[in-house]
Amino acid sequence: MSAQILDGNALSKTIRAEVAQRAQALTARGVKPGLVVILVGENPASQVYVRNKVKACLDCGMHSVLEQYEATLSEAALLGHIARLNADPAIHGILVQLPLPKHIDEHKVIEAIAPEKDVDGFHVSNAGLLMTGNPLFRPCTPYGVMKMLAAAQVPIKGNHAVIVGRSNIVGKPMAMLLLQESATVTICHSATRDLKAMTLQADILVAAVGRPRMITGDMVKPGAVVVDVGINRLPDGKLCGDVDFASASEVASWITPVPGGVGPMTITMLLVNTIEAAERTL
Ligand code: GUN
Repeated sequence: MSAQILDGNALSKTIRAEVAQRAQALTARGVKPGLVVILVGENPASQVYVRNKVKACLDCGMHSVLEQYEATLSEAALLGHIARLNADPAIHGILVQLPLPKHIDEHKVIEAIAPEKDVDGFHVSNAGLLMTGNPLFRPCTPYGVMKMLAAAQVPIKGNHAVIVGRSNIVGKPMAMLLLQESATVTICHSATRDLKAMTLQADILVAAVGRPRMITGDMVKPGAVVVDVGINRLPDGKLCGDVDFASASEVASWITPVPGGVGPMTITMLLVNTIEAAERTL
């Protein structure tokens, strides 16, 4: 292996220590930062994610509650819970874990969250602010990726960033953040004709597709920085990313591992966004 590791655990530790200090300072001024995480249904991966989010808040001295509802919860009832939390001054961040059960309109739910408490940054008003270069909240996963690139002093300006995946959660906001720092950005997706021809042009390659090990070493330009956003569970129960780490790490200059790369950074940036939301109420 020749690539250096972009260590999300180590960077998270540093940033979470700063978060804990800011949480303490806010609490001393009478504002304990608070996040509510809402989970509807019993998706096993989501259950792990939401528990980790709440635990990370508590570990940093923040207030956090998990509100868990049956998969049969009506859309109207969920909107009612969001309205209650929008009006609760002890709550600075509201996160509704996605995906939601099929009978609930995800878009309607996200739009119901008060934009100033939308710590995911998914509300159309926050997506618009991000797109116009004046973000209130940066979506947690791409925000975490930017922090990792900065920590490794990866140059972005003028470099070609290729993002594989066009989701509202990762691909699109990732493109906006990289563009904001003057990268040349290409977004690839399932209908892209010659994916390998695209990825081979990437100075920075971000994989966010949800397909185990689909980016192999022969698709990576020598010296590229490879960021793996995928968290896939294999039949044997082990986790793996969207990048084939063994072959890609022979070619890349920097690479994120799975686990221990982007995953912990997503939660860390959720904490940062919640702190920022609380600080804005002072
Ligand atoms: N599901 C997968 N990633 C995310 C995320 O960042 N936020 C929310 N709310 N749901 C998700």
